[in-house]
Amino acid sequence: MDPFRANLFAGKTAFIAGGTSGINLGIAKRLAGLGAKVSVAGRNPEKAEGAAREIGGTDIALGLSCDVRIYQSVEEALQKAVDTFGKLDIVISGAAGNFVAPALGMSANGFRTVVDIDLNGTFNVFRACYQHLNRPGASLIAITAGQAVNAAMLQAHVCAAKAGINQLCRVLAMEWGPDGVRVNGISPGPIADTEGMARLAPTPEAETAIKARVPLRRYGTKEEIGDAAVFLSSDAARYVTGTILDVDGGSQLGDARSRDGSNGLT
Ligand code: NAP
Ligand code: COA
Repeated sequence: MDPFRANLFAGKTAFIAGGTSGINLGIAKRLAGLGAKVSVAGRNPEKAEGAAREIGGTDIALGLSCDVRIYQSVEEALQKAVDTFGKLDIVISGAAGNFVAPALGMSANGFRTVVDIDLNGTFNVFRACYQHLNRPGASLIAITAGQAVNAAMLQAHVCAAKAGINQLCRVLAMEWGPDGVRVNGISPGPIADTEGMARLAPTPEAETAIKARVPLRRYGTKEEIGDAAVFLSSDAARYVTGTILDVDGGSQLGDARSRDGSNGLT
């Protein structure tokens, strides 16, 4: 049985930047399944339209073309979402880019590109959406990652960008809390069947090694991240703001191989 009430988000509308695939599309489907109208935005318009069809078609979903690095593009996409569904209650900022490279194998443009999508993109989405949802009950969620807290080799760009996102959420929670607007983050662990894990763990051996380190010993699912977004967007989280919710099987606690006979240091 679904742990959430079927019509939880009836009458609510959501905008999900980067909602055209992967984890964020999973969140969009979860919100729509509970009654929300959702707009999903990404750079590729065909992919965005396909995602909207997958969510349930024009009555409940809108696919939008948008590059979060360009403020005006974000403003235009948000305006189209509001024109279509009348208002905005929930905004998720999840667009991201990642590739695996050492800092010395990364050009200045490579570093800047990821920071621009992840961090500047989140500022753009949150800054631009505020005029549409500046009222009590509104919920903003950024999709961050464990790299925000734990340094990871070959991830200088992502570590820097996601750390910035965590702090941005905290600052905005303070600045916008007096308006009744909540700002939180979700930090997923390794999630199955995603572009992110295809890049970070491209072989079965790498996948097995990562799962061995996770206290819960498995990858998470898109539905599990969707459930966290449902909680944070709902009235159940009405006194929760400025928090980063780890949905990661305990990954951020550290390397959990030791129970299997390794201390994780070798
Ligand atoms: P994904 O499927 O590649 O999703 C990325 C989304 O962002 C796509 O919809 C993509 O669509 C969009 N996007 C990329 N650049 C954009 C831009 N400049 N402007 C607008 N949209 C843009 O990746 P995912 O693995 O599901 O990751 C989703 C989120 O979860 C990311 O924030 C990631 O950091 C986070 N996360 C993932 C994992 C994991 O296990 N996968 C773990 C921790 C955190 P277009 O390409 O069409 O633009
Ligand atoms: N190693 C080193 N540098 C790399 C790289 C790699 N594997 N992949 C890209 N770059 C560099 C490029 O060389 C370029 O730098 P340069 O101009 O100095 O040569 C810079 O990054 C930008 O690349 P470009 O392909 O022009 O960027 P883009 O805006 O078209 O795409 C990316 C952005 C690179 C992040 C691309 O991987 C992407 O679109 N990702 C979205 C999906 C994704 O990453 N999902 C997982 C989310 S966790």
